[in-house]
Amino acid sequence: MERLTIRRPDDWHLHLRDGEMLRLVAPESRDFGRAVIMPNLVPPVVTGDDAGAYRDRVIAAGFARPLMTLYLTEGTDPTDVVRAHAGGVIHAVKLYPAGATTNSASGVRDIETVRPVLAAMEEAGVPLCLHGEVTEPEVDIFDREAAFLDRVLTPLRDAHPELKLTLEHVTTKDAVDWVREHPGVGATITAQHLTSNRNDMLAGGMRPHFYCLPILKRRAHQEALRQAATSGPGPFFLGTDSAPHPLQAKEATCCAAGCFTAPHALPLYAQVFEEEGALDRLEAFAALNGPAHYGLAPNEDTVTLVKGDAGARPESIEGHGQRVTLFDPGQPLHWRVEPREG
Ligand code: DOR
Ligand code: ZN
Repeated sequence: MERLTIRRPDDWHLHLRDGEMLRLVAPESRDFGRAVIMPNLVPPVVTGDDAGAYRDRVIAAGFARPLMTLYLTEGTDPTDVVRAHAGGVIHAVKLYPAGATTNSASGVRDIETVRPVLAAMEEAGVPLCLHGEVTEPEVDIFDREAAFLDRVLTPLRDAHPELKLTLEHVTTKDAVDWVREHPGVGATITAQHLTSNRNDMLAGGMRPHFYCLPILKRRAHQEALRQAATSGPGPFFLGTDSAPHPLQAKEATCCAAGCFTAPHALPLYAQVFEEEGALDRLEAFAALNGPAHYGLAPNEDTVTLVKGDAGARPESIEGHGQRVTLFDPGQPLHWRVEPREG
């Protein structure tokens, strides 16, 4: 197949940041219709008013259809969450375990403290998106997602069976199996967790642009993710977790977590689906499963991917005083997205 036309995909997990970085990266998600915008700014997006103001800045920076999220803290007011959702200001609430990742210091330490918020969300149908890693220092970084399933997610699901859950950026076979065993729960998968495993990051030299959280796992997990993503209609859908950091924060003694994939995310995913002989299932993963999970209509318009010489990709993008390196899977990409009309 040399050309593939599918409904326009959405990105169900995206970091756009704020200020100059927002202005640099917002236009780079042009291939996507909607995107769920993560709230881990400094300071985080914690109230409905914060989310409304941030949405306006995102649109002004060049991304037209953001779906906003609130950052769940131990001080979150349930009434504000329900009001912001009912008013169409927010799409979902994001739970970061405190200390799990970039800008997560204001996250949740003790889940008991947010029970009233979770109960109100369950009642009002507000989705909860989860960064699924425990933070106990004694848990090995490669085991943090699996431990989260047992210690946090299973009890949470039992206590709030009607709460709409999305397990973000799954990275293990354990998580894939857990999601399959719990109907109604959705899961996003990033491009880098499909193209790569921890050998790509660590063997023969340490490559900071492969470093993200949850961290890349061993090949067997990568294979489970590739199988899940390419399985057609179901709970797995596209969320890039594209997470730009300034070049100097990535290429540093203590490298920041995050892979910047937004500009070429669709070609990255398409290549994986092609390798798996599953291009006919790319549309389900990229454009149908996410809307179905959230009870939304898929996009009406389409994108066309073209196979062939994709041309040279820039190593980085630059502007507004910022420079961000694109994630490079270490192999040439053969797909490009035909430019949007108009
Ligand atoms: O690698 C990551 N980067 N994982 C996250 O959960 C957050 C993100 C970021 O904001 O940079
Ligand atoms: Zn993220």
